[in-house]
Amino acid sequence: MEPEPTSRSASRYDDHWPSTKAVGPQALLSRNRFIFGAWAGLVVVTLGLLATFVRYTSQPSAGSSSVELPAKAVAITSHTPVDPFGPLSVLKGEPTLSFRENLLSDSKYITSWVSAGWTNDVMTYMNLIYLGLITERIPIIPEFIPSHIGGHVPPIPFGEVFDVPRLRNALGVSVLEWRDVKQHNSTVLEPLGCWNTWEAVQGREKFPRRSRSINDLNLDISFTRAPDWIKIIPNFEHDQHAFFWALAALSYPTTREANLVTPLPSPKQNVSLPPDEHLLCYDYLYYVSAHQPYELEYDYSPVWRFVGKHMHWTPTLERLATDYVRQAIGMTENTPVPPFISVHIRHYDFEVWCGSVPVQECFAPLPVIARRVREIQEEVSQRSGLWVKHVVVTSDERNITWWHEVAKLGWFTPDHTETKAKYGDWYPVLIDAVIQSQGVGFVGTDRSTMSIIAAKRVESWQHGPSIEVKWGTPGADDH
Ligand SMILES: *[C@@H]1O[C@H](CO)[C@@H](O)[C@H](O)[C@H]1NC(C)=O
Ligand SMILES: *[C@@H]1O[C@H](CO)[C@@H](O)[C@H](O)[C@H]1NC(C)=O
Ligand SMILES: *[C@@H]1O[C@H](CO)[C@@H](O)[C@H](O)[C@H]1NC(C)=O
Repeated sequence: MEPEPTSRSASRYDDHWPSTKAVGPQALLSRNRFIFGAWAGLVVVTLGLLATFVRYTSQPSAGSSSVELPAKAVAITSHTPVDPFGPLSVLKGEPTLSFRENLLSDSKYITSWVSAGWTNDVMTYMNLIYLGLITERIPIIPEFIPSHIGGHVPPIPFGEVFDVPRLRNALGVSVLEWRDVKQHNSTVLEPLGCWNTWEAVQGREKFPRRSRSINDLNLDISFTRAPDWIKIIPNFEHDQHAFFWALAALSYPTTREANLVTPLPSPKQNVSLPPDEHLLCYDYLYYVSAHQPYELEYDYSPVWRFVGKHMHWTPTLERLATDYVRQAIGMTENTPVPPFISVHIRHYDFEVWCGSVPVQECFAPLPVIARRVREIQEEVSQRSGLWVKHVVVTSDERNITWWHEVAKLGWFTPDHTETKAKYGDWYPVLIDAVIQSQGVGFVGTDRSTMSIIAAKRVESWQHGPSIEVKWGTPGADDH
């Protein structure tokens, strides 16, 4: 198993507290209710307007890459079934046996693959969508592959986790999934020319980044090695990030042609192809930044501001996680869940970084985490005047004694005993991620990308504060 690729020396952000105006939990709840009411009203009005509008526009023909809805109408219809940026406006039709048959000749597309564990794959897809925005191409997103869940588990579509119609309407551009384009069970093997970025940013592996998604989609890829100048820190072996705009430049004719080299023949059909101009593709987009490596956690992160914060969970997943919280806190069905502080404590696979420090001393003990929880409660209280007493803990820890100690602190935890059997192997981690994002304040684990992204969500969606607990040596979190 590959360690989470966030392993790095301390790269901290100083402004732990988001600068956005404080919105208390109570204000938040009533605000949400207000928004819901407002939505319901708008939807009714909008449907009326749209009905009128549609009468004056022709059917979206296969060739019209965007139905010319005014921006306003698009914004207020994001929760209605109308989806002007959906597959039918940027593809010829329903999924076909060969992806190429389904692409419109006057639209341009972009894709890539994943291979780094679910949270990192989420970040990779954010990068793919962002690269789509800056190259003005329609992203086509593959499924999530079970790299940390277990190879026997089937992949799960991106759209079963994230609300894709809401995302594309928030972005105002199309976002597609591979399942929209090519039939899931198609046995048609298709050649495709792509850029190999992996060999340009690191020297250990003398091949393009591998991913099972490529096989799952029945693609046979001929890779062209990208130039060394895509790498952010030239010749530096301890980092492997590329610049977004270097990759974007390669998609435009002048830079593309100046950098074409002999492609590697594809593994199955032995065809050599230059990078495709219709469906642009890169082997791997996890390690991509605008300004500096690992920038998602920084306040300026363009990927978060322009894409990540619009990637909301599907309503089904959101409801399921709320049910788990309700049950954890011991509330009856249909009662509203009170505001809570969410906590993510990552242990299990982080042991590899403890080195010679015994695990008991390496990870932050519960009293240290409790001190951080109290600080977040105080911060929330300062902002909203409310003391949020409920604390919901998510963790990969398997030690029962440790969980008993969590319970003794009066903290709650989702019960995943039956989650896999009921919903499938993906769901414990999905539900935990949603719960983390629902906290009005968040306490996470330093160096965990799952915690970093949860903190961003709490900041953007709940306007809540967050902190990451340091670990690695006794007293690592002293402050
Ligand atoms: C592929 O799946 C679709 C429905 O999901 C089914 O109708 C079709 O027969 C399947 N084709 C093959 C070749 O299995
Ligand atoms: C692949 O194609 C090249 C060029 O056509 C040819 O020289 C080579 O022998 C082929 N390799 C295989 C394994 O078929
Ligand atoms: C389980 O957790 C308890 C409490 O944190 C700790 O004392 C014990 O050593 C742990 N057991 C193992 C096997 O790690």
